[in-house]
Amino acid sequence: MTKIFYFSATGNSLWSAKKIAHNISADNPTEKYELVNIGKAAYDGSFANDDLKISGGKKQKHLIEADAVIFVFPSFAYGMPRVMRQFVKNAEFKASYVAALVTYGSSPGGTLGGLRRILRKKNISKMFFGKIPAVENYLAIFGTPGEETIKKRSEAQKRVTDDLSRLIIERKENKVSSFYPLSFFVYCLFTLGIKIFYRFYQVSDKCAGCGVCEKICPVSAIVMKTKKGASVKQPRFTSRCEHCQGCVNLCPLRAIQFARARFGSRGYRHPEISINELIK
Ligand SMILES: Cc1cc2nc3c(=O)[nH]c(=O)nc-3n(C[C@H](O)[C@H](O)[C@H](O)COP(=O)(O)O)c2cc1C
Ligand code: SF4
Ligand code: SF4
Repeated sequence: MTKIFYFSATGNSLWSAKKIAHNISADNPTEKYELVNIGKAAYDGSFANDDLKISGGKKQKHLIEADAVIFVFPSFAYGMPRVMRQFVKNAEFKASYVAALVTYGSSPGGTLGGLRRILRKKNISKMFFGKIPAVENYLAIFGTPGEETIKKRSEAQKRVTDDLSRLIIERKENKVSSFYPLSFFVYCLFTLGIKIFYRFYQVSDKCAGCGVCEKICPVSAIVMKTKKGASVKQPRFTSRCEHCQGCVNLCPLRAIQFARARFGSRGYRHPEISINELIK
């Protein structure tokens, strides 16, 4: 059994996770695999295991047991999503092979090094790390990607995902440096920032209360509430927010804003991933 854990806001990492699963099955049709949404697993408690409670502590450890474990996730400010870092930190692994693949828009910096620092304490005999180029989804800084950029980056994503799948199927190993001081600094600032960023999300009066943002949020950070005097429920953002930009990109009416950032008239979603797949 191979367990593929993914975090995905706009579908890039989910697309690669699905492609890897498909390639594993194509290589060996009897090999079973499971796709697990990290945000959901971390918060719904399905991975909590009573046997692994830290004695006297508040945090509960959970067990990840499989022949191979694969993580596929986006780079956030040269690091991994906060919920994933906590999920991996709290995990005990009964797996001899762990692969970690980061999807990124321009450079993942020390994202994989940060993950390696956690994984090397976990008694895993073989590890593999890989980087997958994809479309940049942080519209507030990089703007809306054009059709040509989406096409080129998606092709590169496919090519690299296929190459890395082959290496994972062959159980290849490699190492990444865990010394990236600049990335470490940027990521520390980001992790401090996301403690308050949720307060800066706003909803314009274009919002029709459709609830898409609530359903696609990978960590269920949005609750729908009826404001005084309003006729429809509108999203309220909570401190669980990972600043993943899923809601900003996927709101069909472009009604979500972050502070004074300008997002343009289109959002981004991986062309081969539907909204429904992101809701699961
Ligand atoms: C908050 C945030 C920070 C990001 N930081 C980086 C970064 O440091 N380096 C990078 O190359 N891409 C960065 N990106 C882009 C994403 O990593 C990239 O688009 C990723 O493929 C999105 O995956 P998803 O569609 O599965 O969510 C960032 C995106 C967001 C939303
Ligand atoms: S997705 Fe957009 S329109 Fe729908 S509830 Fe959320 S903010 Fe409102
Ligand atoms: S509220 Fe929006 S930005 Fe925050 S985690 Fe949910 S989808 Fe991502």
